[in-house]
Amino acid sequence: MTVTRPLRIAPSILSADFARLGAEVQAIAEAGADYIHVDVMDGHFVPNISFGAPVMNAVRGATDKIFDVHLMIAPTDPYLSDFAKGGADIITVHAEAGPHLHRSLQAIRALGKKAGVALNPATPVSAIEHVIDDCDLVLVMSVNPGFGGQSFIPESLNKIAQARALIGGRDIDLEVDGGVTADNARAIVQAGANVLVAGSAIYAGNDPTTYAERIRTIRHAATGMVV
Ligand code: DX5
Ligand code: ZN
Repeated sequence: MTVTRPLRIAPSILSADFARLGAEVQAIAEAGADYIHVDVMDGHFVPNISFGAPVMNAVRGATDKIFDVHLMIAPTDPYLSDFAKGGADIITVHAEAGPHLHRSLQAIRALGKKAGVALNPATPVSAIEHVIDDCDLVLVMSVNPGFGGQSFIPESLNKIAQARALIGGRDIDLEVDGGVTADNARAIVQAGANVLVAGSAIYAGNDPTTYAERIRTIRHAATGMVV
């Protein structure tokens, strides 16, 4: 059966004002976000530290929207249950984070959560060929993970198309993360993605009155709607 997944806009709270994190999550949800993208960094797997499960849990009550948790940490397995209990709906681990990706994906599903796998720019799509049926989401990184505000790596478009071919008609989200803007959203969706993460393109300036229009602009651009 072929499944066409709906377009989802997933603002990354990495670019939110951390001093007002709960309000920022609520504001982005009310502005039309589909998923709340939660970037967790450990200063080891990636060269930056963000926040962990307790901080995520503290803002979980701000909305009922899906929490899409992107773990840029190694190891991952010891922390999966903290994020599951803390309110994650989707938990994504990196294919490069450890030698036992299959075990990590099974552990996430055993916790009752959707399992995602992320690929760094240099990691081929073939790395997940044998675990694709254990995934609910594939995340193609279009920058090197660790920081918001970087430029989209153009080669990512080829990789998104390869990931789409691997997924085929399976009921799996194909997410793209890093440097997503209204200018490249159409090309990303045409290559086969259906979930667009955007941090700085939505949160820059941290003015809640701008969020709805920015989300709408990316959504319209992605669908080819002329505005
Ligand atoms: C990068 C993070 C991204 C990041 C995206 O390591 O995984 O989610 O916040 O930020 P922008 O959209 O600013 O590239
Ligand atoms: Zn991310």
